[in-house]
Amino acid sequence: MNQDTKVLLNDGHRMPIIALGVWQSQEDTKKAVLDALKAGYRHIDTAFVYDNERAVGEAIRESGIPRNEIFVTTKLWNDDIRSYKIREALKTSLDNLGLDYVDLYLIHWPAEGYVEAYLEMEKLQKEGLIRSIGVSNFRKSHLENLLSQVHIIPSINQIETNPQMVDEETIQFCKENKIVVEAWSPLGSGACLSIPAIQILANKYHKSLAQVILRWLLQKGIVVLPKSIHENRIIENMNIFDFELTHEEMNLMNQLNQHKRTGPDPDCFNF
Ligand code: A2P
Repeated sequence: MNQDTKVLLNDGHRMPIIALGVWQSQEDTKKAVLDALKAGYRHIDTAFVYDNERAVGEAIRESGIPRNEIFVTTKLWNDDIRSYKIREALKTSLDNLGLDYVDLYLIHWPAEGYVEAYLEMEKLQKEGLIRSIGVSNFRKSHLENLLSQVHIIPSINQIETNPQMVDEETIQFCKENKIVVEAWSPLGSGACLSIPAIQILANKYHKSLAQVILRWLLQKGIVVLPKSIHENRIIENMNIFDFELTHEEMNLMNQLNQHKRTGPDPDCFNF
């Protein structure tokens, strides 16, 4: 595993295992993406609802890095799922990004109508506007329902995952169905950066708590999307390929799970 490592998705595409997340990056988005691309990131994770797709697109163009070397994810918002404006929503996102395809398009939340939305995304994939299709915030029950009605197994499920929030049942189901899991809020939005047991490991490896957490997730086979608007942290979050947690240390990290969400619950959200 090194910083160029990519995971093979079930549709044959390859995705870099570490991405810059830009939720709540606001006016700092363009600089953060430019800093990340300079640091070696080749995977950016945005969403229509973050209201920063334009800044992401500008940074990609300004970086001078060829389009096909960068993996771009965006997400279909709930209002567009409910009103079945899938094609229109994707076109808007592509226009915002200034791109003619996205590498990954995700159903952002299991809002009512997600099966129909997904079936439309299957068509958009065939048309070449989306390389890979996936979902976000789907629990096992949502995935079971989806898989029973669609033709293509999602390549990704992006869910809140950090030391205090591991949905083992969903992760296991994804593994069995060759769906790659991505962790949003891998640092618990910062809440996991003061856990004493992780500090002990950080001291042992001369790494930060953030680096230990991200490394633990990668070793579990989970793709990470840490968010930061600070160049030093963006660099730090990628510098996790020169140490390895032991089997015992992985178990110790796994035991920190409290099923404690920092974000909304996919079984009862109201937006
Ligand atoms: P900032 O953007 O000011 O750097 P998550 O990805 O789990 O949502 O966590 C993001 C939060 O953690 C943000 O508040 C971010 O702040 C902070 N953060 C990201 N990377 C680090 C790091 N290496 N050390 C400390 N805080 C970090």
